[in-house]
Amino acid sequence: MRYLPIFLDSHTGPVLLVGAGELVRAKLRLLLAAGARVRWHATDGDHAVDGLDAAAAARIEVAAGDPREADLRGVIAVLCAGAGEVGIALAARARAAGVPVNVMDDLAHSTFIFPAIVDRGDVVVAVGTGGASPVVARRVRERVEAVLPARIGDLAGLIGRWRKSIHARIPEFALRRRFWERVVDGPIGAAVLAGRSREAEAALRAIVDPSSFAGAGAGGAPQGHVTLVGAGPGDPDLLTVKGLRALQDADVVFHDELVSPEILDRARRDAARVPVGRRVGKPGIGQEAVNRLLIEAAQAGRRAVRLKGGDPFVFGRGGEEVEALRDAGVSYSVVPGITAALGAAADFEVPLTYRREALRVTFLTAHRADDAAKIDWSTLTDLEATVVAYMGMTAAPAIRDGLIAAGRSPRTPVGVFARATRPDAQAAVGVLADLPALVRRIDGGPALLVIGDVVAHSAPWRAARLAQTLPDLMMAAE
Ligand SMILES: C[S@@+](CC[C@H](N)C(=O)[O-])C[C@H]1O[C@@H](n2cnc3c(N)ncnc32)[C@H](O)[C@@H]1O
Repeated sequence: MRYLPIFLDSHTGPVLLVGAGELVRAKLRLLLAAGARVRWHATDGDHAVDGLDAAAAARIEVAAGDPREADLRGVIAVLCAGAGEVGIALAARARAAGVPVNVMDDLAHSTFIFPAIVDRGDVVVAVGTGGASPVVARRVRERVEAVLPARIGDLAGLIGRWRKSIHARIPEFALRRRFWERVVDGPIGAAVLAGRSREAEAALRAIVDPSSFAGAGAGGAPQGHVTLVGAGPGDPDLLTVKGLRALQDADVVFHDELVSPEILDRARRDAARVPVGRRVGKPGIGQEAVNRLLIEAAQAGRRAVRLKGGDPFVFGRGGEEVEALRDAGVSYSVVPGITAALGAAADFEVPLTYRREALRVTFLTAHRADDAAKIDWSTLTDLEATVVAYMGMTAAPAIRDGLIAAGRSPRTPVGVFARATRPDAQAAVGVLADLPALVRRIDGGPALLVIGDVVAHSAPWRAARLAQTLPDLMMAAE
């Protein structure tokens, strides 16, 4: 590491800014947002900046004359556009005067560089790549943005306000650190992050008041919580920001087999990972046992994530788990995920609804032929209905027979979409009459069946038409 990250107090003196154009104005805005006073030599004489509020605009000091001769006394940093003659001369003077200087895009003449910044009020994360690649720094910043709770700055602010009082109340350093850890990780921290700052403030006030210190919560046993998280259909980037945060906060992750290792890798490194789903050819531990594990984890004060493929409430047993948690008095929450139907629709370009063509979508599951026999297919025969069957591979002949017997055309376009959103995704398209044969063309992995005219808009259908592997289906597509 060559560049040491330090945070400059922007209130201790003016920053000298030299240059013109949009990049310089962007830096000006950044400095003003940090509360700095800025002495600005606009080399083209244009000091206009849009969109500044009056307080920020008042902190700009317009400077004139030759910037190379600028007065550096009291200046806390110099920032100069481009490495032209002005930049080089000013950098040399700043160095000689011991003032930190940044010449934009010119490491050789700079003594500091700007990091990419995640700004959450009192919490600021700076990301640097030693000046090698601002693009990489920005990508890292995006990832940090994604996992950092929106109100983390409020939490730091709250702690800042109560620091002195708590210091007086708990003078011993180690005890105090433990106290603050419990505040951050416990119900007080959770209340702030959930936007209930007043509640958190009241809890801290109760702690500082000696008469209520013992029962104030932050010092008590931590409370457990279970978050049901939908992991999406496979692509790790389809996990929601909220799901990712829950994962990174969890002490233990109970996961289905469908959840890919790339997604599990996004959990905290020291979190326990417990597989609880069915594996190919092997039964899972059973729903009752899963419920028990979740309840026990929460009752032991752990933050547990129950990570499921797709969405927890779409054929995901989320309902049963939530009921068990509620019955046991365990605190829980649910984070939705992208269900496989939507993942496959996006991946293979199947518009599940289409104006004037498909007016409704039905998600159904038919694990076995006798499940298919229970479905009232007569409600799904109109042309405007798109049917998505989860877990329908084995029951494909029964699904075909049920729909055709109820009156749906055997020439209805259908698609079998497997391992959607994964790198090895696969599709087979054709007509309803051939559904079982299409299923046989799939090489394994989770797959769903989509039945309806909209399949004729899909990318695999268009490719098959181009390759003329659907000669007798042209009419069905029309
Ligand atoms: C037990 S269900 C879970 C569904 C999940 N909760 C959801 O919302 O997608 C498993 C079924 O989802 C479907 N599925 C899951 N992931 C899939 C994927 N990546 N591509 C296609 N189908 C998938 C398959 O039909 C699989 O048999």
